[in-house]
Amino acid sequence: MQKVLLFSDPGIDDSFAIIYALLHPQIELVGIVTGYGSVKKEQATQNAAYLLQLANQRDIPIIGGAQGPLSGESVTYYPEIHGPEGLGPIKPPEGLKVNLLNFDQIYKIIDQYQNELIIVSIGRLTELAVAFILGADQMEKVKSFHVMGGAFLVPGNVSPVAEANFYGDPIAADLVMQRSIPLKVFPLNVTNQALVTPEVIQYISQTNATPFQPLLEPIYDYYLKAYKKNIPGIPGAPLHDVLTLSSIFNPTMVDYYYREVRVVLSGVAKGQSIADFRPKPDPVPEENLKGIAMKLNYELFLKDFVEIMTSETSNTTSTSK
Ligand code: BDR
Ligand code: CA
Repeated sequence: MQKVLLFSDPGIDDSFAIIYALLHPQIELVGIVTGYGSVKKEQATQNAAYLLQLANQRDIPIIGGAQGPLSGESVTYYPEIHGPEGLGPIKPPEGLKVNLLNFDQIYKIIDQYQNELIIVSIGRLTELAVAFILGADQMEKVKSFHVMGGAFLVPGNVSPVAEANFYGDPIAADLVMQRSIPLKVFPLNVTNQALVTPEVIQYISQTNATPFQPLLEPIYDYYLKAYKKNIPGIPGAPLHDVLTLSSIFNPTMVDYYYREVRVVLSGVAKGQSIADFRPKPDPVPEENLKGIAMKLNYELFLKDFVEIMTSETSNTTSTSK
């Protein structure tokens, strides 16, 4: 079993990623850090707790993340994409009791699992940056980092050049790009290709026999409608955050370019991700660089997603504490 600590902001595609993780026979989700991003931190926490409750997995710890970026700027949320509560038309039960753990819990988790632990970040990068600032030594024990964010030499989604997770906290994103070792980055170059069509969701929804089943079509439909409004004719909705997780188990799902990555901190190009793709006569060894996912094997992604989302074995049946 691969131990995964997830930093997230659910959010519709984060919720798909959490559901995917809970259904994956090889993933042991050892904690979810919830922070601002698609919705407020408090709502993200409620949504994560709701998904864990549905899965009967309330013993998975939820750790309180950030309420805003390192710059102190105010936050823009995206109800038009993720819905007023972050789950499209679904209203999670109000006032779900959450035993929200303090941030230092992440170091306890790292100490417990050390180099068996992968950190996957699918939201703004603030919490992960803070984790490096407060505990650089502990972060060295982590096996690897997978981060959804950035857009390299392609258009952004919140500005002409920037992707939402990097734009939301570029200072944090730049720090994480420099300090995470080893790191794999999943930018819009590949995640925009990770499209799931309504037919696939219908099939999954008809086959899935878990407590998540009633959510799948409504949250997807809401998310797709938002994408269709922005990109008329798009055949499906991109599950950015699922791809970032699923690539852990499918090494040939994407092709990586190995480069240094920097993020523009402010100004007109705020949040833009930069890597040097010029041919280098004397390249630095790959292990010292960041793996940037640049090409997706779509068939592999889709096959894996359908397999996991319809699998009969699931982590959703154990008794909660
Ligand atoms: C990222 O922003 C959010 O809307 C998604 O959950 C994903 O993490 C894509 O830019
Ligand atoms: Ca996200």
